Amino acid sequence: MNVDVAQSFNFLPVPTDIHFGCGMLRSLPERLKSFGATRTLVVTDPGVRAAGILDRVTRVLQDATCQFTVWDRVKPDSGSTLIDETVAELQRHACDAVVGVGGGSSLDTAKAVAALATNPGPALAYVGLHKVRNRALPMVAIPTTAGTGSEVTLWSVFTDDTRAVKVAIGGTLLHPAVALCDPELTLDLPPMLTAATGMDALAHAVECYTNNACQPISGALALQAIELIGRHLRSAVLNGRNLPSRYGMMLAATMAGIAMNSTRLGLAHALAMPLGSWDLRVPHGVVLAVTLPAVMEFNHLAEPDRFAEVARALGEDVSRLSRLDAAGRAVAAVRNLARDIGIPAGLSGFGFREEHIAPVVEEAMRSGNVPVNPRRAGAEDLTRILRQVM
Ligand SMILES: [Fe+2]
Repeated sequence: MNVDVAQSFNFLPVPTDIHFGCGMLRSLPERLKSFGATRTLVVTDPGVRAAGILDRVTRVLQDATCQFTVWDRVKPDSGSTLIDETVAELQRHACDAVVGVGGGSSLDTAKAVAALATNPGPALAYVGLHKVRNRALPMVAIPTTAGTGSEVTLWSVFTDDTRAVKVAIGGTLLHPAVALCDPELTLDLPPMLTAATGMDALAHAVECYTNNACQPISGALALQAIELIGRHLRSAVLNGRNLPSRYGMMLAATMAGIAMNSTRLGLAHALAMPLGSWDLRVPHGVVLAVTLPAVMEFNHLAEPDRFAEVARALGEDVSRLSRLDAAGRAVAAVRNLARDIGIPAGLSGFGFREEHIAPVVEEAMRSGNVPVNPRRAGAEDLTRILRQVM
């Protein structure tokens, strides 16, 4: 690793107690007892129930005689109204701990609910950074996808139901108290969900590693995550029951989540918020999977050495290439990966049309991910990128 003595930086420590390993779900009662929890609200979604994972969670809790209430109504990208309803449910049952089980939507809902249980008022009153002041209820995040990194991040993303726009509550009090990362819970995740969520994790790692805010500690985590994804994502999609690949992908997603807390991301994530809003509601992982190669194409010449490192981490032999050609290999490697795992070439199949471009660009330009993007970008650049991924 090259050092730069002119660089000063901050790395946000992650207060989340991470317990990682196959079969780790079984340690859930021990974690809840360590909080002194008397009744736990289990927040999840119908997909997790249908996959049989909720039954596994409740069995573990019943076997240990833990008291709990299940709330399984989370929808994709959740919603501010649903979060407020979930807080009311928590209060009705006098729960003093929260367990989130699922992908980003369930974990982000559970994080917001744990925070709102001790911070009065509706979810929308806390949109922004560091508006949550009181310590949240203890919360355990159990991811069932390998992608969002929500189990270790300080963000809860959801839909503002009054405007149908994706928003976020962020702050150090939003971190889950515990992340239980059990790769066995992802063994039955369907190929398309594995592919899209895996590309979201790759986007976290690549955008973090190449942006202007990256620093050595986040960079090391992000680069390791890229290498793990290069090695394991194809096999996780093609053979979902491959436990080493599932383990590698979950590790990558969690490492990328820790890395990005301190750095923010880039244009692909700036675009993801509005593309997941209004009538569009393109799933977050799909947006990232489709836009990441185009964003990398736009960015790679601005930080050729970093993109060359990305190419190397993805297994490309760049030893005989010029800096610029080596950087270009990172773009090609990600395009090939997306193609191999069945990511669609564009977003038109998700209802994305020419008339969406202007409002998406306008909203994306407000994102805090734009100023840290490695190449300075204006509205016309975002417009060009969106036309490429139509
Ligand atoms: Fe993401």
